[in-house]
Amino acid sequence: MSFIEVGQIDQIPVGSMKSTSVSGKQILIANVDGEFYAINNTCTHAGGDLSKGKLEGKIVTCPRHGSKFDVTTGKCILGPKFGFLKINTKDATAFEVKAEENKILVAGA
Ligand code: FES
Repeated sequence: MSFIEVGQIDQIPVGSMKSTSVSGKQILIANVDGEFYAINNTCTHAGGDLSKGKLEGKIVTCPRHGSKFDVTTGKCILGPKFGFLKINTKDATAFEVKAEENKILVAGA
């Protein structure tokens, strides 16, 4: 499996995230306690930009309708809410990440 460089470790401090484009896909890179994770940056509900949302621990909240995704797995743990109406949405795709020297590399993107 080939890995593609998507950024540098010192550009994404602990607790922060960044979006990047890899092979035409928008990927979200998140730093959770010094470990890097990557999932699709486009919300599976209606295309929100997850990098503009909020990262709390390993959970990113979509800025559009509040869906929550686990950045370590891509699993959607809470779909969007509209008043009392709860909707399910698909999990995000997760990508394998490795760090080498000061580089962050993503596979399969
Ligand atoms: S677009 Fe993300 S919750 Fe609706």
